[in-house]
Amino acid sequence: MDPRPIGFFDSGIGGVTSIPYIMRMLPSESIIFYGDTARTPYGSQSPETIRQFSLQIGDFLAGEDVKMLVIACNTVSANALDVLREAFPDIPVVGCINPTAREVVKLCSHGERIGIMATRATVNAGTYAEKIHSLAPDLYLKQVACPAIVPLVEEGIVDHEIMDLTLRYYLDDFIAENRIDTLVLGCTHYPLIAPNLQRLYPGIRIISSAQELATAVKMELTDRDLLAPEREAKSRFYASDLSDNFVRMIERILGRDADELEIYFKNLDI
Ligand code: DGL
Repeated sequence: MDPRPIGFFDSGIGGVTSIPYIMRMLPSESIIFYGDTARTPYGSQSPETIRQFSLQIGDFLAGEDVKMLVIACNTVSANALDVLREAFPDIPVVGCINPTAREVVKLCSHGERIGIMATRATVNAGTYAEKIHSLAPDLYLKQVACPAIVPLVEEGIVDHEIMDLTLRYYLDDFIAENRIDTLVLGCTHYPLIAPNLQRLYPGIRIISSAQELATAVKMELTDRDLLAPEREAKSRFYASDLSDNFVRMIERILGRDADELEIYFKNLDI
């Protein structure tokens, strides 16, 4: 048993989408979340920059004495997982690509046509294809970079035709030409646009990295005997740029009023 909090982070609001799953599965776990809203999106930055930003956030969360570092960001998982594991050898580091890849392999069989939507830096890293094909070399897989989606979500432009048009711009031809029947949401911002995807492409199966991450965290905590004792959990949310939008999106994702939550501004001396 370990009462310390779990450290979660993302480039912005997206990583919060895995937290409701954690709160349901592990109600006694306290969470410290860091969203690097001042420097989002990471998906359009170089691997070196993504690693540098991730290490700064890792230092902050390690300083908060977290028992686990959860990379609630595919872009960081694709580009900085090993660097973080090396920098913080005493803290287990969990990323979201390996658990999602395992779920894809479990759910999809030969003949199905899988499309992975992600940021440009995730697509360029090739980690999804590498991991899925190491487990199932014959699975049909295509990736598509959708760089404009994260900035729209960060702006709270979700239930709007601008989002629908942007999705169609990236996905209409991609889905039709590759006859995609399963879409992997390879970015933790994308669960927020899952309703748009279901409406625009009915019948397509959706696999979400945010949900798979939560399942992996539960497994890791259980295996390492790090679960918190039964109690009322207390979570804190930090952002490097605390905008009204960030607060509104947290309220929306968690279904809670900001007055009931601890939300703070914290820049990392950037
Ligand atoms: N939520 C991040 C991910 O899963 C978004 C990255 C970005 O800031 O572009 O990749």
